[in-house]
Amino acid sequence: MDTVTFCGKTCHNVMQPEYTAYLNSPHSRVECVKCHIGPGAGWFVKSKLSGVGQVFAVTFDTYPRPIPVPVHNLRPARETCEACHWPQKYGEDRVRVISTFADDEANSATKTVLLMKIGGGNNGIGIHGTHLGPGVVIRYRPSDEARQVIPCVQYNSPDGKSVDYVTPDAKPGCLSGPDTREMDCMDCHNRPSHTFDLPERAVDRAMETGQISSALPFAKKKAVEILKAGYPSRDEAARRIPEAFATYYRQSYPAVWAERQALVTSSGNQVLEIYNRNVFPDMNVTWGKYPINIGHTDFPGCWRCHDSNHTAKSGAVITQDCNACHNLLAQDEANPKVLTDLGITEPRAPESR
Ligand code: HEC
Ligand code: HEC
Ligand code: HEC
Ligand code: HEC
Ligand code: HEC
Repeated sequence: MDTVTFCGKTCHNVMQPEYTAYLNSPHSRVECVKCHIGPGAGWFVKSKLSGVGQVFAVTFDTYPRPIPVPVHNLRPARETCEACHWPQKYGEDRVRVISTFADDEANSATKTVLLMKIGGGNNGIGIHGTHLGPGVVIRYRPSDEARQVIPCVQYNSPDGKSVDYVTPDAKPGCLSGPDTREMDCMDCHNRPSHTFDLPERAVDRAMETGQISSALPFAKKKAVEILKAGYPSRDEAARRIPEAFATYYRQSYPAVWAERQALVTSSGNQVLEIYNRNVFPDMNVTWGKYPINIGHTDFPGCWRCHDSNHTAKSGAVITQDCNACHNLLAQDEANPKVLTDLGITEPRAPESR
């Protein structure tokens, strides 16, 4: 039962979305049980993912689709994640470059550059230090099942001070209740090995690496449009997606089609690959079904609390300062100066551009 194969394949239909995302994640060599159960025998019993109840549900086809999140009986993250990621290990600032392609004919490329203030868990600074440094405890109580709406938050600092931050519509005493939660890794890294992308993001990434060619007119717009059209099954998508992509160039850009048919075909196949990694109609896993809590552009994420609307009695708020979590070094620029200064040149895929 301890193996990835058991977890991913025995309950194949039910877990196909998670297994597929896992294979494409930085954790693809970490066994399922390392996160879902952790060391020692005790949690094996508590973990629904290996429990009899679930096997029964799978057998009789009664599992909810999609599998609801958050997973409530997951072992506390600090006992599982910290077996590999000890706090001293991830303390440095990190540059993140996010490439975006526009909806225009040229698929105009821009870049956003962020300096992420990662901060180690061993120190009260940066993203990790302020939430998880020694002696820091943050509690919150969500008002929805998916923990996407958080009206009240309590910050306890190492020196014993406690501050409640609440939104105007929070109910009195809203921090007491069985669903009050102590913040840990999972509240931000809720999809560490099962990230499902949104179509725009996935296409941007595929274009950045040249899997979908940015030399094809309107490739971004078309790929996203095709991905967003509904398909009743993965078989149907496999038939229709590459065909729809090819048809567009055959009809609207015959010259491109004549000259670059192989490129159109390979790009169209990559559009299908994106679909296959992210959409599972049998399990009702479709675009955006599983919110990602890191960030704030696609889902509420950090801004569930950092919205300047969570206020303490003193009038202090949980900050939304744009430079608290990252320095915004460039936003949607064609050629950010900071990247040239750093000597970072664009990685160009051969042939395809
Ligand atoms: C790096 C840690 C990690 C590994 C490895 C991992 N998982 Fe998960 N998994 C999680 C976390 C965290 C969640 C909870 C997501 C939430 O509550 O929002 C989760 C959720 C799930 C869910 C619930 C549905 C969903 O999409 O959230 C399933 C099913 C699942 N995992 C199966 C697996 C299987 C099968 C494997 C191995 C092939 C695996 N996991 C490996 C961390 C991991
Ligand atoms: C058994 C070891 C192990 C466990 C347990 C584990 N990880 Fe990892 N984690 C790794 C490895 C290996 C990598 C990949 C490092 C690399 O590619 O450089 C990684 C990468 C990451 C990254 C960086 C991803 C990126 O895109 O660069 C994050 C964030 C992360 N893990 C979070 C978590 C969280 C949260 C948990 C607990 C739910 C967890 N990990 C559990 C081994 C583990
Ligand atoms: C308050 C939200 C938050 C919490 C809580 C949190 N992280 Fe992170 N973590 C982040 C953000 C944001 C990043 C940067 C992501 C990026 O730039 O893509 C990050 C990055 C990381 C990385 C990659 C670091 C690197 O240098 O590449 C690892 C590993 C990681 N976190 C592990 C953990 C573990 C383990 C825990 C629990 C002990 C944890 N995090 C708790 C928000 C959080
Ligand atoms: C559950 C609520 C909650 C969520 C979600 C949350 N934070 Fe926080 N964050 C807090 C609280 C509370 C503080 C401390 C406020 C104080 O100093 O009194 C804080 C402080 C910080 C600080 C220090 C700010 C400063 O100027 O001192 C950073 C940086 C930060 N958070 C980053 C993040 C990032 C990045 C995310 C999303 C990945 C995130 N937080 C998500 C509650 C949250
Ligand atoms: C509480 C922390 C926090 C605050 C406050 C914050 N950000 Fe962010 N921001 C993040 C994180 C985390 C990411 C995601 C980085 C990643 O993708 O790994 C992000 C990503 C971004 C991105 C990249 C979006 C993309 O296309 O992926 C932009 C642009 C951005 N932030 C702008 C802002 C602006 C403008 C403000 C002020 C209004 C702000 N941020 C305030 C944490 C924060």
